[in-house]
Amino acid sequence: MGALKGKHIVLGITGGIAAYKSAALLRLFVKAGAEVQVVMTPAAKEFITPVTLSALSGKPVVSEFFTANTGEWHSHVDLGLWADAMVIAPATACTIAKMANGVADNMLVTTYLSAREPVFVAPAMDLDMMAHPSTTRNLDLLRSYGNHIIEPAEGELASHLVGKGRMEEPEGIFRYLEEYFERREAASPLKGRKVLITGGPTVERIDPVRYISNFSTGKMAFALADEAVRRGAEVTVVAGPTTAAPSHKGVKVVRVESALEMLAACRGEFPGSDVAIMCAAVADYRVKNQAATKIKREGHEPPALELVANPDIAATLGAEKRPGQILVGFALETDNGPANALGKMERKNLDMVVLNSLADKGAGFATDTNRVAIFRRGAEEPMTFPLKPKTEVAADILNAIESL
Ligand code: PMT
Repeated sequence: MGALKGKHIVLGITGGIAAYKSAALLRLFVKAGAEVQVVMTPAAKEFITPVTLSALSGKPVVSEFFTANTGEWHSHVDLGLWADAMVIAPATACTIAKMANGVADNMLVTTYLSAREPVFVAPAMDLDMMAHPSTTRNLDLLRSYGNHIIEPAEGELASHLVGKGRMEEPEGIFRYLEEYFERREAASPLKGRKVLITGGPTVERIDPVRYISNFSTGKMAFALADEAVRRGAEVTVVAGPTTAAPSHKGVKVVRVESALEMLAACRGEFPGSDVAIMCAAVADYRVKNQAATKIKREGHEPPALELVANPDIAATLGAEKRPGQILVGFALETDNGPANALGKMERKNLDMVVLNSLADKGAGFATDTNRVAIFRRGAEEPMTFPLKPKTEVAADILNAIESL
């Protein structure tokens, strides 16, 4: 129970008589704590109004590529990335054919083609359409892509003929998804574990208007947080100043500014954590004497800034680590990556180090992609990966943590 809580579901509705049942399905998802974004084909609007669906989901329904009067673009790619699951219910023979063959002529099919998470298809059509070899072949193609087909039931159809083609009832579709996520989370060793993640930069003030910092955006950390929540973990991110945020409401975010504040927050959280992932780019130095008022330029020599070392948060937690806790660090390097990463694993008492290098184009700060090598304590060789979206890098890192 509760496996759909906090999940992001794209509910695709196509133009079939069973579209009226989609409202009941939507309600079940929302009652279970899921966030639902409805995407309708133009034909679906002939069967159920977008107003009903947006009222039930609390979000405007998406149907076109852009809003005609404002020109606002609806990104099918963003929706595909946001989703933990896409459910197409009802799925007509026409939409199933388009999905099987990549005919991306509407918002629903383009979103389907961009979806990285599991897709569930609940066909609904007349018995002869259902039995037609083209439908059978198209459904087989969808199965071969890894999509889940929620078989239609036998019964009286809209045509009053009796046979196979009735969309599975909303309760059945809901249970199918709930059981799917229950099984998936039960399979993850992170289920029910407490995960602490640091992310973003820290900001060390020079005076009230100036500071020392770096280019970290927090994207990598929030990708890790979202993925850990998907696996059923309880996640807290201690984040330095950044505009980035997790997609999942289930992630607790503690906002801090400086390395000292980040250390204090982490020491509070770490004793209760099973896993800690140090992804923040912590400023190694702070100004010894912060000015209380703005340092004036006119009539003054440029000030000499005296710096003092900030505490090493990862090393502090490494020294306080108790048996059974897993501590993971990052190493951001420009040269000598493997040697530096292994040195950090030793000095900071880490169980695993994720190396990323600014020498790799598209890796490191502020990008949506990263290229990492993962060093595990005791393993002879690092695990190496190609350049990938940070969402996928996060999955690779959590897989490696699970293997520990
Ligand atoms: O936030 P993004 O824009 O998505 O960019 C992601 C990232 C590049 C910031 C991330 O992938 C990354 O590499 N984070 C670690 C950056 C870093 O500071 O690396 P480092 O090699 O200097 O530090 C080694 C480890 O010690 C890190 O786990 C770091 O969090 C930790 N550390 C460092 C210094 C310090 N005072 N305290 C620490 O805890």
